[in-house]
Amino acid sequence: MTTRATAAEDLTREAAGDERAEGAAAQALGAIDVEAIRREFPALDQTVGDRPLVYLDSAATALKPRAVIDAVTEIYARDCANIHRGVHRLSQRATERFEGARDKVRALLNAPTSQEIVLVRGTTEAINLVAQSYARPRLGPGDEILVTELEHHANIVPWQIVCEQTGAELVVARMTDAGEVTADAVEAVLSPKTRLVALPHVSNALGTVLPVRRITELAKARGAAVLVDGAQAAPHMPVDVQELGCDFYAISGHKLYGPTGAGALFGRRELLDEMPPYQGGGEMIRTVTFEKTTYAPAPTKFEAGTPDIAGVVGVGAAIDFVREVGFDALAAHERDLMAYATEALSSVPGVEIVGTARDKRAVVSFLMDVAHPHDIGTIVDMEGVAIRTGHHCAQPIMRRFGVAATARASFGMYNNRADVDALVRALWRVREFLA
Ligand code: ALA
Repeated sequence: MTTRATAAEDLTREAAGDERAEGAAAQALGAIDVEAIRREFPALDQTVGDRPLVYLDSAATALKPRAVIDAVTEIYARDCANIHRGVHRLSQRATERFEGARDKVRALLNAPTSQEIVLVRGTTEAINLVAQSYARPRLGPGDEILVTELEHHANIVPWQIVCEQTGAELVVARMTDAGEVTADAVEAVLSPKTRLVALPHVSNALGTVLPVRRITELAKARGAAVLVDGAQAAPHMPVDVQELGCDFYAISGHKLYGPTGAGALFGRRELLDEMPPYQGGGEMIRTVTFEKTTYAPAPTKFEAGTPDIAGVVGVGAAIDFVREVGFDALAAHERDLMAYATEALSSVPGVEIVGTARDKRAVVSFLMDVAHPHDIGTIVDMEGVAIRTGHHCAQPIMRRFGVAATARASFGMYNNRADVDALVRALWRVREFLA
């Protein structure tokens, strides 16, 4: 056991080679102070069993910095009131903070106006909103919705429901063996019948970055609307919806170091103005009589009922936190970590990385010859290492690679090379148990 662990450490050291020195140099230059960042995340300060936690599951949900936890606590401890409804000062303060968060989302995505930011529960709700409110009234038999083979179920199932409701058809752009969806692959299945193209910016299962801007250009040239699932992109790269040219862009706050249950949809104003409400209730109206109700303008008409006020305010705090770290520094740090992890994991005998796209962010999916992914997950958890195992809500991707599941390590701003080393050591334990 000891010998193998030592061998693992040696291999890791070898694999790291010069890159470790380069990473250390980058950190010394102040690109990102990971140690300082780690101190801001209270969840990292714990042991799991008798091991320090190594959290490599940020693609499922990112840990939350103290600033986010404090912002949420403050809403409940001080500014605890409903929004848009009260003239009293608590309500005014809560409203200001809620609307302030909307402005922060606008800035994060570089949307032209805050009226184009609908606050929802997360990416899933955002996509369902567009499916029911944009696509359903417009589509009929003979129309097509184009998705890619790299989708999360949240960007497949809502469109299938719309297809059942309208008679439209779902068309799929295929991926390469490396797990890339090229603009050519999309162009091959685009047609005059394509009414909407839905694609991820970054794949949650493989980490692949898609050429969203180019695909959007192609779709627009055919008159199709474009929705981008940005859940896995927004935490890792600057997003500019105007530059991308898309019509809709969906994000989840909890992947962005914010609370669960709050996210946002960017929608182009002309489209949001034309779209009917998604749900009815309080706040989304202008006037109500039993004979007829008129609706508030966007985004209010899509925000029926009391929202997750603290959650949204927490997302605002998370955006401040991420922007303070800076996307350039963050991207450089995560690139370094990805290169290091890819090499270090490949050095473990029997490990095969699934998804070898040229441009990947923060995700390494892998298989091991000696173990089912669930067994890998259970054994590495005994070593304090949290990874996700399973189909990652992306069964078509698994099917494409001929597997039922993978193990997935995913990174956030607080991860460092020591975390990767811990995973590699844990994978050697897997071999010991099961080889
Ligand atoms: N979509 C999340 C993931 O990829 C839950 O793990």
